[in-house]
Amino acid sequence: MSEQSVPILRVEGFTKHFAEVKANTDVHLDVRAGEVHALVGENGAGKSTLLKMIYGVYRPDAGRMLIDSTPVTPGSPAEARALGIGMVFQDLRLVPALTVAENVALSIPRGPMLNLRRVIREITAESEKHGLSVNPRALVQHLSIGERQRLEILKVLMTGARLVILDEPTSVLAPQEVSALFGVVAHLRDQGFGILIVTHKLNEVRAIADRVTVLRAGNTVLVGVEPADYTNDQLIESMVGRAVPPLVAERVTVAKGEGSEPALRISGVRSKGDHGHEALKGVSIDVYPGELVGIAGVAGSGQRELCEVALGLRATTTGTVSICGVPSRTPASAIRAGAVNVPEDPVADSVVARLSVLEHMALDGRALPRKRLGIDWAAVRTRTHALNEALGLRIAPHHRRVSELSGGNIQRVVLTRELGIHSSLVVAAYPSRGLDVANVRRTQEILLDRRSSGSGVLVVSEDLDELMSLADRIVVMHDGHISGEVSANAFDRQHIGRLMLGGAA
Ligand SMILES: Nc1ncnc2c1ncn2[C@@H]1O[C@H](COP(=O)(O)OP(=O)(O)OP(=O)(O)O)[C@@H](O)[C@H]1O
Ligand SMILES: [Mg+2]
Repeated sequence: MSEQSVPILRVEGFTKHFAEVKANTDVHLDVRAGEVHALVGENGAGKSTLLKMIYGVYRPDAGRMLIDSTPVTPGSPAEARALGIGMVFQDLRLVPALTVAENVALSIPRGPMLNLRRVIREITAESEKHGLSVNPRALVQHLSIGERQRLEILKVLMTGARLVILDEPTSVLAPQEVSALFGVVAHLRDQGFGILIVTHKLNEVRAIADRVTVLRAGNTVLVGVEPADYTNDQLIESMVGRAVPPLVAERVTVAKGEGSEPALRISGVRSKGDHGHEALKGVSIDVYPGELVGIAGVAGSGQRELCEVALGLRATTTGTVSICGVPSRTPASAIRAGAVNVPEDPVADSVVARLSVLEHMALDGRALPRKRLGIDWAAVRTRTHALNEALGLRIAPHHRRVSELSGGNIQRVVLTRELGIHSSLVVAAYPSRGLDVANVRRTQEILLDRRSSGSGVLVVSEDLDELMSLADRIVVMHDGHISGEVSANAFDRQHIGRLMLGGAA
């Protein structure tokens, strides 16, 4: 990337306040043609808000932006697209029941004479040009998350974008999918596109970004610096305001003698997935009180169905589930037996956007404190305050609507609700998804605390580093089976990798 290349985008002094929340204050940023520019910062730092102003979703209270040195004020995403700006949101916005081509057709403004065959031809040409393989005739509901994301990027390119904005594209991806995405991003950079990308992972900043801008509490604290000039500790300090040392977990080997009852026992379970295929093909697993078991596997190997079966959220065709020795088949019986659930995608599975933080804290499926004929909100408030103090994930104020919270702040509400109470079994799918460095660290400490206080903890993650730093045992799944198991003193990345591909133990 040459010094003299003109910025496609320049942001000068953007400010956006939502009532008492100063989401952005006097923010400066520029993105050049042919560069990947990373935007980093804590949960709630204002990253998504900044991107939404650039993309015309929000109007800034103050400041201006220039495209190719010309001041512009996109009043809507359509106007931003006309200026050559495209954005892929944190939550993908596709219609699952339609095909790839139909989804693309929906996003391209055309006359009434829409010709689907032409759209298919264009998709094929455009996807070949950028190495973004997607089948135009496939139904979106059958695509993996990685494929859906490629489709979103393709849509952006087909609307003529030169500036491509990606808000946390990797937080939902498995490591192999991240490499594929970065291949596409590097290709776009080489073609002269400008890319503005949000991530919480510093190794990703180093892998892909030419420059990085750090937001903290709505202010730009580093603007367009080169990552190589900073250590990870310096970047973390600029984001969080203090150092965050890496986690060092003490491992345990739980005695599984006669008479000790597992917190979770899954025996010989078969179960169907969403598309009628067999997702679990005879799976058995025990999680004992006081142990943390990690589930590794390539996405779609049955991990999600395993969690759902454990929690009574998915029926089995054969086999049994018991929690602390009590057979469990329904969500109600799992909750009664003391199970808690950190779902894979809280925004989709677990939150009701219009409700407040406090109402979400009450929505945990357990008995609510009651007063006369209604809910005792004062008691819910006291309990929420106590949980927040105990866990230290610093959830947003009680009255805030969840729809107004940042992605990571929603995850923190769900984590506080589920991990704050005493439980015999914790089932956590991708617990650190969307969290910033400090909150990832805190969440991992909480999971280890749960384990030390006697819960059986099951953690699903595609991030092997995370599992290797937390788990006492890692169980590897492949194609609906358990392909092997490795204990903490024998963790070996290559070996686990082979098991993930179905290789023999
Ligand atoms: N529409 C809105 N109404 C009120 N407050 C909002 C709105 N959108 C964002 N905020 C607030 O602005 C702040 C910044 O949010 P933003 O989504 O930009 O953070 P972020 O840096 O993207 O965080 P994350 O890493 O969690 O995605 C947060 O406190 C958020 O609750
Ligand atoms: Mg965000």
